[in-house]
Amino acid sequence: MIIVNLKTYEEAHGEKSVRIARACELVAKKHNIRIVVCPQTVDIRLVKSKTNAEVFAQHIDTVPFGKYTGWINPETMKEAGITGTLINHSEHKLSLDEIRKRVERCRELGLVSVVCADSIEEGERIKLLQPDYIAIEPPELIGSDISVSTAKPELIRDAVIKLQTPKTKVLVGAGVRTEQDVRVAISLGASGILSASEISKSPDPERSLEIFVKGFKHKL
Ligand code: G3P
Repeated sequence: MIIVNLKTYEEAHGEKSVRIARACELVAKKHNIRIVVCPQTVDIRLVKSKTNAEVFAQHIDTVPFGKYTGWINPETMKEAGITGTLINHSEHKLSLDEIRKRVERCRELGLVSVVCADSIEEGERIKLLQPDYIAIEPPELIGSDISVSTAKPELIRDAVIKLQTPKTKVLVGAGVRTEQDVRVAISLGASGILSASEISKSPDPERSLEIFVKGFKHKL
């Protein structure tokens, strides 16, 4: 799986998020690989109305319908078309209890939970919650030109050994830019990658995704 997080990048908001989502849809179909896009909350309905891309949220809350001004209700997000969500991204940290509530709500609603972890230690606490995925991302490499695959291949290996279970798969991210970055992550046992700037800021998202897909093909 490739998850493309659009964050709040100017190059990837509004109509521009639709363009990237279309590229995700196209490349996913062409290569039969799961590619998921995470637009800003406000762009989700737009993306779903104009593409058939699979969409995850960048974040959800756990409030039910009711008197909860400003919170993100997961049922409404599901109605808008998400099939899963990121939780505890490095740029949106939560307590373990808040993570647990979100993983449980996802389970109740049939949404895929992807919980981010900054380290193996945090990953080990999250593992007990049995999310569908744990995404390991060293925060200092996020948005940088040095990938987790280049700087910390041992972290990927460790994450797969220590965090992967029959219920929880491991994704890796931070600075992923090249075919080789993806290839290293996949060969070390990761089930996929979490990427943002390389695709969100690309002048040609389809071409950039094709490069990532090559890294997977190596293993197929
Ligand atoms: O959510 C993915 C992200 O944190 C990694 O960002 O820009 O290093 O691919 P980037």
